Amino acid sequence: MVSRNKIVESIKNEVEIEKYVINLSSKHQRAIETKDLTISYNGKKNALNKTNLAFETNKITSLIGASGSGKSTFLRSLNLIHGENTLIGGQILYHGVNINDPSIDKFEVRRRIGMVFQRPNPFAKSIYNNITFALTQRAKYTKNQLDEIVESSLKQAALWDQVKDELNKSALSLSGGQQQRLVIARALALKPDILLLDEPASALDPKSTMQVEETMVNLKKDYTIIVVTHNMQQAARVSDYTAFFHMGNVIEYDLTRKIFTRPKVKLTSDYVAGNFG
Ligand SMILES: Nc1ncnc2c1ncn2[C@@H]1O[C@H](COP(=O)(O)OP(=O)(O)OP(=O)(O)O)[C@@H](O)[C@H]1O
Ligand SMILES: [Mg+2]
Repeated sequence: MVSRNKIVESIKNEVEIEKYVINLSSKHQRAIETKDLTISYNGKKNALNKTNLAFETNKITSLIGASGSGKSTFLRSLNLIHGENTLIGGQILYHGVNINDPSIDKFEVRRRIGMVFQRPNPFAKSIYNNITFALTQRAKYTKNQLDEIVESSLKQAALWDQVKDELNKSALSLSGGQQQRLVIARALALKPDILLLDEPASALDPKSTMQVEETMVNLKKDYTIIVVTHNMQQAARVSDYTAFFHMGNVIEYDLTRKIFTRPKVKLTSDYVAGNFG
């Protein structure tokens, strides 16, 4: 039988886990912020514990951490994607409004906070229709308006030059890297202000990976970007801030250069050095 003391000891260790989380000062504009965000699936142990993270506008923030540490759980929650048996406590403040509330229009939130997944998921439609599909479902546009949105979204996603002469071609005929940039363009067409990317380059070759990274860096002048990655070089290259997740806790959150050169918590330095995960 496990002694009661052992249990108390393990709970204590969990509570006393060392953390260092910066809070943005008032001079930093916040695009989105969580307060004590806690998530559990099917009544099991929390996949995310009391997470308090604020994301600066027009910056790129990387979420890093071992498999199962809660990165995707956190990212999906910002897009209000959760299954039936998911319990979500705490707040997600977006423009000062708590969007973790049943009265919130989820579709409107998802338009403003776009999400791109690990595997490119274009619709089985033409390049052009991939971008216009969601738009035409919600409002009337003229052909000229749609042409303009298609062009500007593809330009922002650095895909225009490669596809401008074949917009009626099936999106599925594009390469993986092109498909991923098309999916980014599709999200941009809805004029979001935040882009969430869950390992957007992990299924791509090195050249496509570089193109997606360049696209992210170019986009940050207009968007706030939060990106999950297992690629430490990528996090160091593209992001301004980095949050390190471990077993459902944010252990450390700081400027990327601090996380990678002189982290404050030993667990962070072990992880970025590749000692586990
Ligand atoms: N839909 C779900 N239903 C039940 N449990 C889930 C679900 N999604 C995630 N979990 C559990 O929540 C925990 C965190 O998972 P999550 O997918 O957020 O991790 P992650 O950090 O994104 O991992 P990876 O790097 O492998 O993508 C894990 O224990 C996982 O098994
Ligand atoms: Mg994940």
